[in-house]
Amino acid sequence: MRVSTGVPGFDTLVNGGLLKDRLYIISGPPGSGKTTFCAQFATKGAIDDERTLYLSMHETQEELVNDMSSFEFGFEKAIASGQVKFLNVLDGDAQRLLSTSSRGSRDVSANIDNFSNKIVSIVESKGVDRLIIDSTMLLEYYFSDDLDALVTFLTKLKRTDATVLLISEMTDPTSYSDAHYLAHGVVFFHNYLEAGEMVRGIQLIKMRGTPIDCDIREIEFTDRGLRVDPETKIHS
Ligand SMILES: Nc1ncnc2c1ncn2[C@@H]1O[C@H](COP(=O)(O)OP(=O)(O)OP(=O)(O)O)[C@@H](O)[C@H]1O
Ligand SMILES: [Mg+2]
Repeated sequence: MRVSTGVPGFDTLVNGGLLKDRLYIISGPPGSGKTTFCAQFATKGAIDDERTLYLSMHETQEELVNDMSSFEFGFEKAIASGQVKFLNVLDGDAQRLLSTSSRGSRDVSANIDNFSNKIVSIVESKGVDRLIIDSTMLLEYYFSDDLDALVTFLTKLKRTDATVLLISEMTDPTSYSDAHYLAHGVVFFHNYLEAGEMVRGIQLIKMRGTPIDCDIREIEFTDRGLRVDPETKIHS
């Protein structure tokens, strides 16, 4: 079964939508559209009567709602409906919920286990259909250099009944991490200078179970959010 992303033009590139309950990495440089894409995905979930959990570390709910308010796709309404829940993992309440203490805690591995078990159990017990992790910096904070624990966490997420979007800050499309290999799909956003103009594009790097080409398509920000033009390939 496939789920619609709510990003006009994108579903066409992936046979009608993302395969449900899988894990996808959304990569790209700063300001390239990763958060907007995920906010549209969350909003589409609310429209389709699905539940989303949006995990963040660097932004508050208010900031995210504010940033998305320049678009008209209805993110604020989705939050207000309760179908999209926002959790900043560094908030006092969230820290208590996740039973993690500050990074200075001596028992680092207990903190890591608590964090991953709690997130997985929230996803399962609350019936989360769409999970967004914004971003891998959040995971780096919790897992520091415990790569095994991170891989275990992502593997557990792959087994839940949630479609997971993991945002990864990455400016070099060739410096892949373990998460990119582990994921079912990898989407890369581009924002680069060409002939004196900034060009925005989107590229499917991999999409297990779905035939794709790896060509870069043009994207634009409109009043209704990001829009992909599936027909227009960028030739560089
Ligand atoms: N109509 C618009 N409304 C809001 N932002 C727009 C618009 N058009 C272009 N932008 C730009 O798009 C960017 C927002 O993209 P977004 O926050 O989704 O990127 P990101 O990849 O998540 O960035 P970061 O890595 O910094 O978190 C901003 O830099 C913003 O200036
Ligand atoms: Mg962002």
